[in-house]
Amino acid sequence: MVEAELSEVDADLVAVGLCEDESLPDWLLAAPGADDASGEAEKLSVLYPDAPARVIVAGLGKLEDLDAERLRVVAALVAKEAARRKATSLAWLLPETEDDNAAAEGLVTGTILGSYRFDRFKGGGSDDSRPPALESLTLLAPESVDVAALTARIGAEAQNRARDLQSTPANVATPSFLAARAEEIAASSDDISVEVLGREEIAAKEMGGLIAVSQGSEEDPRLIVLHYAGGHATRLGLVGKGVTFDTGGISLKPGAGMEEMKYDMSGAAAVLEAVAAIAEMGLGLDVVAVVPATENMPSGTAIKPGDVITQYDGTTVEVNNTDAEGRLILADALAYAIELGADLVVDLATLTGAVVVALGSTYAGVIANDDRLAREVESAGIATGELTWRLPLHPEYTKLMKGTVADLSNLASKREAGTATAGAFLAEFVGETPWAHVDIAGTAWNVGRAYTGKDASGYGVRLLLELARSLVDTS
Ligand code: BES
Ligand code: MN
Ligand code: ZN
Repeated sequence: MVEAELSEVDADLVAVGLCEDESLPDWLLAAPGADDASGEAEKLSVLYPDAPARVIVAGLGKLEDLDAERLRVVAALVAKEAARRKATSLAWLLPETEDDNAAAEGLVTGTILGSYRFDRFKGGGSDDSRPPALESLTLLAPESVDVAALTARIGAEAQNRARDLQSTPANVATPSFLAARAEEIAASSDDISVEVLGREEIAAKEMGGLIAVSQGSEEDPRLIVLHYAGGHATRLGLVGKGVTFDTGGISLKPGAGMEEMKYDMSGAAAVLEAVAAIAEMGLGLDVVAVVPATENMPSGTAIKPGDVITQYDGTTVEVNNTDAEGRLILADALAYAIELGADLVVDLATLTGAVVVALGSTYAGVIANDDRLAREVESAGIATGELTWRLPLHPEYTKLMKGTVADLSNLASKREAGTATAGAFLAEFVGETPWAHVDIAGTAWNVGRAYTGKDASGYGVRLLLELARSLVDTS
């Protein structure tokens, strides 16, 4: 890359990475602003500050620590700087690393996620009042990274769509709104079909968990099923918790911070948009996604502590805390996904406050009945930056979930190990089918990485896409 070529790059801003202890390339040494530039991690320096096409030197830190995650972060910082400077086109010179594909993935993912804004309701909701968004990203890189860059683009755009679903307030993002999005996804691909059940049909199927949680709400629940026919023997089951607002029900949550409970459908958002991305990639596996969607409201028709319900698989459950609603709707959905022929199942759910205490927003908690699947989920997360940490399943946790008058209770008889006991409850509904539950209560929002922001993170979309890719590779 020389200055002459730079002038041919048709972009408002050209980003060049620089590692610590590395000096600027010759063609930039004389540029105004060059003296201040360095490779210090996450430091940005703008060269040619007065020229229309500017160069931004992005500090990449130590070469030996340079990985896709560092590039996601730096690319997001650059994207935010581009937005501040109202640049609508950006070019990135691919830095030299051991793995061009991983570097391209990091830059594309970080740029797209870092450019995300949720401003649909700003400025009276009108389009023209909003600042310009990034319209194009050019990678100055060998053609060999094309597939990695396209995959990254599909994953990151799907993740941003999941963030839209998460952030949309609960008066708009209702169960039927999620169902409409599922129908749109199905309409976008010949290989996806959709089935949506309403309150009556859910009752007719005797999905007692979803009926119980939704019975306090005026808003109709939906049981959403997406089927992607990738023409392969393996059928991956995905289940996403779709509580569009969780007040706690009669076991009402405290008022402070309750507005965050619009995010209680983050698992559903990730699962729906992951299916869209898997289809866009044309991956060679079958997917069945089941999303139970409902509000959890207190009212004269709501379930009461102590009520006994019968889950889809026939298990009876004492509802001792109506705020432990996620496990009730997931129990039905897991059993249904297996009935629909899933060979293995992964569920994503903002299930417990306890996982936030245990792992914060850095790792999601995983409970699994299958070591191999747990490892696949872990590796997928390491590849995408969506980290997971496994917590144990143990018969003692299951024992804590036994009911007094019914088979199970939805509330453990001890407060501690809240994530593990919730997982032990779910495990009762999957039998021998390999299953991994990902508790995303800590990672779905408020993560605070440069590329996730502080609000909806869209956690799980790229994780599921990567997991699906790994299943295609190995099966
Ligand atoms: N949706 C919540 C879990 C949650 C809490 C998500 C905080 C994100 C942030 C879930 O439905 C819930 O209320 N869980 C209870 C379970 C308890 C009553 C056994 C919890 O974790 O307190
Ligand atoms: Mn709850
Ligand atoms: Zn909930």
